[in-house]
Amino acid sequence: MNLFKRNKKDENTDEFHKEYGVISNCRYILGKFVKYRKSLILFIITGSIAAASMTYLWSFIGKLVIDMIEQQASSPDKDIKPLLYLTLITSAAELLFMWLNTVSSMKMSVGFTYVRLMIIKERIAKTLGMEYEALETPEMLDRLQKAKRATAGDWQGVQGMMTYMQVMGVQIISVTIAVAIMTTFNPWIILIIVVLSFAQFLFFDYIRKKDKKEMWDAMMPHWRKLEYMENVTTDFSYAKDIRLFGMQKYLAKKQIDVYDEELRHWIKSRQYWVYNTIFAHGISLLRQLIIIGWLVYSVVFNGLSIGNFTLYTASAAAFSNAINEILQALSALRERSAHTDDYRSFMDIPSADDKAQTIPIPPADKYTFEFKNVSFKYRGQEKYALKNVNLTLHAGEKLAVVGLNGAGKSTFIKLLLRLYDVTEGCILMNGTDIRKFDRKEYYELFAPAFQDVMVFAFPVAENVSMKEPFNTDKAEAEKMLRLAGLGDKLDKLEKGVDTELLKVLYDDGVDLSGGEKQKLALARALYKKSKIIVLDEPTAALDALAEFRLYQSFNELVGDRTAVYISHRLSSTRFCDRVAMFKDGEMVEIGTHDSLMEADGAYADMFRVQAQYYVEDKDIFDVPCQEVTSNG
Ligand SMILES: Nc1ncnc2c1ncn2[C@@H]1O[C@H](COP(=O)(O)OP(=O)(O)O)[C@@H](O)[C@H]1O
Ligand SMILES: [Mg+2]
Repeated sequence: MNLFKRNKKDENTDEFHKEYGVISNCRYILGKFVKYRKSLILFIITGSIAAASMTYLWSFIGKLVIDMIEQQASSPDKDIKPLLYLTLITSAAELLFMWLNTVSSMKMSVGFTYVRLMIIKERIAKTLGMEYEALETPEMLDRLQKAKRATAGDWQGVQGMMTYMQVMGVQIISVTIAVAIMTTFNPWIILIIVVLSFAQFLFFDYIRKKDKKEMWDAMMPHWRKLEYMENVTTDFSYAKDIRLFGMQKYLAKKQIDVYDEELRHWIKSRQYWVYNTIFAHGISLLRQLIIIGWLVYSVVFNGLSIGNFTLYTASAAAFSNAINEILQALSALRERSAHTDDYRSFMDIPSADDKAQTIPIPPADKYTFEFKNVSFKYRGQEKYALKNVNLTLHAGEKLAVVGLNGAGKSTFIKLLLRLYDVTEGCILMNGTDIRKFDRKEYYELFAPAFQDVMVFAFPVAENVSMKEPFNTDKAEAEKMLRLAGLGDKLDKLEKGVDTELLKVLYDDGVDLSGGEKQKLALARALYKKSKIIVLDEPTAALDALAEFRLYQSFNELVGDRTAVYISHRLSSTRFCDRVAMFKDGEMVEIGTHDSLMEADGAYADMFRVQAQYYVEDKDIFDVPCQEVTSNG
């Protein structure tokens, strides 16, 4: 997945991508202000008024002062009191505006960030609430990535919108004031300024697009390369090879090449912007010449007062500046609005669970599951991962699911757990299709342990409870860890179950070995007092005999709860009530160990091949030695 590439084709074909438009997005952002920090609206308004007023304050005062001086000069009795009052009032106004502006700016920058963090929170909640199945597809990861980018920075995406909306606010007020002032002179001058500013903006936009297309877009592959090189050189998993093959210099050279390329692009890009500066100054000069010329002419020939001359000159400059800012802010808003579209499109993706009216899980002591002609294909796959499976898992039953790697055992479990929905057929729980139930409640029924144990960089106890500290029974967690065989490990840890795992967040975090992680997973399954326990080879890091012992002692702890034990080995089949044998996505045999041995089919074959691993401990399988073949 790469962060930089924005695939146009994808975007157009993505059924979930919507274009909301700048106006709608502005309203959406305002809605977030109202939801999370209403005071922001007030600060935006006061801040904008203060900032815009400050721009014109001195132009106005300049005019008044000059008018007064002129008047004083021509009148016999000199009175400087009005001038003094004016200075006092102006200073007070300036101070007030400055104060309002500073306070609002501060409140806004904190507030915008806060609202963005809340938007991130919404995005995370949306992601966590999505069905497992949906998250697996590359399209969804792409959408998620885009939504993430839209909330990533201060100047980009949603917060960029907030900032530029505020800039627009200031400039719109500014323009309004300017128009009011300038029309008292001559409305045509407004048109001239607008046209010149527009020309300036068009050139700026042209350069910006050129720069983006020819420079930055062209740099994408280099950035990806750079990101890759950064990864390679900082990722611990590459560290062994890099050192033992002495790759340091070679890698450094590759990285330098990428930097060189970037530098060349930078120089070219700077050149473009120099052109823009030259053009902008040219237009600016032209504008000044026209305005000042016109105003001077009016002073000389039409009796425009010097005071008004000052006011108009300053206002014209402020006006053209405001027009420019508006045009730039608009273009910035458009860009950020496109990212906001990404975010909103992601948030608006309907959840599969919204559509169906779900029903609560009926409270019952016993839950029976029935697979009826269940077939399943992974998305985008031709081949069935499971084909026409019929099986009933009775309440309290211990079921061993066996078969070679790739036989479909994990898929069977993922369907039972409703991580995926069946492609054909159905799974019933106490007679009701499991798709009808509320997903969250359904998940409560199961305590699973998977082969790929995910450890969180949280304390050990929370890694067992999988809940917040105040919802974690530390004593219980410790008990489960000891039952799962991690007692020795715990005794060695100074802080016991309070020890932080992994070194991501804390330097003194502890890493667990593969076997220890799997035991942790067992402790989790035990801690979660669910009615059905599912172990999908969390014991793969152990040898066959150790797996057998662990499964057997675990089974004692499971008591009369329903349990499904999965293994590509046969370690669990002896103490389970029934064995389901999977082969190439089909359940080929089911029955007790004895009945399957008697049937002498696939299970019996597998058993004969594997029995040797357990020979060390002959009591486990009371098989006569001659039955043990050694060609495994
Ligand atoms: N997420 C997936 N996407 C596509 N194919 C998958 C996925 N997971 C498993 N498969 C395929 O489905 C088949 C059954 O896999 P699985 O149920 O994991 O087997 P087992 O657990 O028995 O080793 C295999 O062919 C496997 O390659
Ligand atoms: Mg598996």
